[in-house]
Amino acid sequence: MFKFKKKSLVMTTVLATVLLLSACSGNAVNGNGGKANNTPSAPKTEDTAPKSDNTESDKKIVVGFSQIGAESGWRDAETQSIKDTFGNDAQFELKFSDAQQKQENQIKAIRTFISQKVDAIALAPVVESGWETVLEEAKAANIPVFLLDRTVKVSDESLYTSFIGSDFILEGQNAAKTMMELLGEDKQVNIVELQGTVGASAANDRQQGFQEIVDANPNYKIIKSQSGDFTRAKGKEVMEAFLKSDGKNIQAVYAHNDDMALGAIQAIEEYGLVPGVDIFIVSVDGTKPAFEAIRDGKLNVTVECNPLLGPQLKQAILDFKDGVTLEKWIKSDEDVYFGQKAIDALPNRTY
Ligand code: AHR
Repeated sequence: MFKFKKKSLVMTTVLATVLLLSACSGNAVNGNGGKANNTPSAPKTEDTAPKSDNTESDKKIVVGFSQIGAESGWRDAETQSIKDTFGNDAQFELKFSDAQQKQENQIKAIRTFISQKVDAIALAPVVESGWETVLEEAKAANIPVFLLDRTVKVSDESLYTSFIGSDFILEGQNAAKTMMELLGEDKQVNIVELQGTVGASAANDRQQGFQEIVDANPNYKIIKSQSGDFTRAKGKEVMEAFLKSDGKNIQAVYAHNDDMALGAIQAIEEYGLVPGVDIFIVSVDGTKPAFEAIRDGKLNVTVECNPLLGPQLKQAILDFKDGVTLEKWIKSDEDVYFGQKAIDALPNRTY
């Protein structure tokens, strides 16, 4: 395994045997000792490595990636970035596992990666807590864990190597600041908040950052807050309920992601109001459909959150292999988009 500079013959033999057995069994990654598991809650798994009989494949750096699911356009873009990055580089083999929004599936996938003796694990954790035990198991197996996009709460930070992702608190702050800048600090604004998945760092931190700025201005109030689970369908459903209870008393929506904002736009239109005009809307992600909604005047602002994390993950794994000391938090560069700036950026947005 690459993390040990001095490879022992025993380890090399074990790895080669595992890879060979894995190739023979179709390389399925699951929590069932490699056997197919057809229960609906089982993680969906795939292996992108080309099958080969020669010894070349034994030298590949094997990366196990436990992805949350496919709840949003942002998530799909992140998955694609990882698959493209590792799929197009012959020195890597990617084992991909889709947890379908369930932490238990992610824990199963990590345990499978450990039993397969992968060289590195990448984890996009659905929620912040509950990872200690499985991360200790990875550490005991000497497998570095890279957190991707969302972070975890652990008592011992040595349980993971690096976190690669955005500053969600800053995103929340930028969402509130831009709302105030565009609506005016002196305006009385009642806000409804569509939160992300309960317990996710992306939801907790975006809430915290936004709340901090709102608390400093007595004219701005969050009057309702509920999770829309980062999906368009639930965003719409929750917005319908907000409109039913508070209707024209709502001046603004803060959605923790673009998909929920797009759902809210539909709900507002069906209610008979004009999104982006009667109700100001700010969301987070910076996806193409959000830029199109800004162009169409239905969304006011999107705060960018970069999903294209494949190249940074690959670099971090290679650096780790070379013994480079990595930053604990490898941050992404991001921006805030509204008005003409969003329209200008639209042609180059790939996701
Ligand atoms: O963790 C990042 C968030 O998860 C994105 O904002 C959202 O779209 C996704 O589902």
